[in-house]
Amino acid sequence: MNKVAVIGLGYWGPNLVRNFHQVAGPRLAVICDRDPRRLEAIGRLYPWLERVQNPQEVFQRRDIQAVVLATPVSTHFPLAKAALEHGKCVLVEKPLTASLEQAEHLVDLAQRQGLVLMVDHVYVFHPAVEKIRQLVQGGQLGQVRFIDSVRINLGLVQSDVNVLWDLAPHDLSIVDYVLGRFPISVAAYGKAHVLPEVEDVAYLTLDYGQGLVANFHLNWLSPVKIRYTIFGGTQQSIVYNDLDPVEKVKVYSRGLSVHAQDVEGRRRLLVDYRTGDVWAPHLDKVEPLRRVVEHFLHCIDHQEVPLTDGMAALRVVKILQAAQESLKQDGQRIFLEPVQARCEQLRSPLARKEPVCPNDPKSLSAFRG
Ligand SMILES: NC(=O)c1ccc[n+]([C@@H]2O[C@H](COP(=O)([O-])OP(=O)(O)OC[C@H]3O[C@@H](n4cnc5c(N)ncnc54)[C@H](O)[C@@H]3O)[C@@H](O)[C@H]2O)c1
Repeated sequence: MNKVAVIGLGYWGPNLVRNFHQVAGPRLAVICDRDPRRLEAIGRLYPWLERVQNPQEVFQRRDIQAVVLATPVSTHFPLAKAALEHGKCVLVEKPLTASLEQAEHLVDLAQRQGLVLMVDHVYVFHPAVEKIRQLVQGGQLGQVRFIDSVRINLGLVQSDVNVLWDLAPHDLSIVDYVLGRFPISVAAYGKAHVLPEVEDVAYLTLDYGQGLVANFHLNWLSPVKIRYTIFGGTQQSIVYNDLDPVEKVKVYSRGLSVHAQDVEGRRRLLVDYRTGDVWAPHLDKVEPLRRVVEHFLHCIDHQEVPLTDGMAALRVVKILQAAQESLKQDGQRIFLEPVQARCEQLRSPLARKEPVCPNDPKSLSAFRG
């Protein structure tokens, strides 16, 4: 009755299978992939799990309470919709869907049914991102002026989504969580080199108003892998290097401020450079995907709204869709309406807790259930 099935056993699905096995033990009962070779390969590692090729078989089973979707983006909507219609809670890989309309439909459906719908915005559960959020929300950066991010490597070129829809959900979910703000406009510029119409290099710019601008470089063709995000503030700045094994987050008391114009009022400015300390906060060593899995199960068992719920997923999809529109118009700036989905007016029977801090030891019990 409370069993879990993982659908999609390609590149990412096996990581979910491993974590569900570690966290939930026998509650993980079924693995599913339409490709019998993937079923065989992963089934050999977990011989006690049932193997199913057709997701409909999973949806129809009464002992399955929750399904996890790690299939290509274009399949997220039909599979998640079918799962929710059959009364299953759903954890979907990022991005939730390939369009805003689809995302709204799923959020509505989950809320009407009182079912948990969560998206795997895995970085929201990363100790580094949680620390950055604490610093930003605690005002330690002063006013955030810019965010500059580089997420590039030789990527797995996909045929159903471009590099924006593949990589930007990571950055957009991080920024959504850290800032707790929605941008007022978006512009994106990119080019397709490998597959026609599938951009593999893209530059995305978000304007949050009040002087805060964010820029993201996304690239599947880079010979080197870089995962770098800078949060620049008026008092301090953060450099987050996800590939640094020891000091992923560094806080710099370094910057400049203009204190006066010269006496003749010419354009020459008198600038102060601050070169203060650099420090690296302690971060817990924990696999973020394990926390995703723990949180999903906790929300099902306690009837709670997840931290990365349908609305968080919808905010990301809304920006992606506008970015796609901009991409097709050679970087035209697109203004965004604030997110007010119809579903916000619906009353979900699930309890909404204050966002618990996934990496705070005090709230770990909430995650473990
Ligand atoms: N959170 C992360 O860091 C992260 C990392 C990589 C990928 N992803 C996401 O995971 C999802 C899958 O990506 P991937 O790289 O593993 O793709 P993949 O192509 O390697 O694997 C997808 C698998 O799904 C199976 N499949 C496709 N349609 C199916 C269907 N209708 N029924 C059953 N099985 C079906 C395929 O046979 C394949 O084995 C995507 O949404 C992607 O964005 C997330």
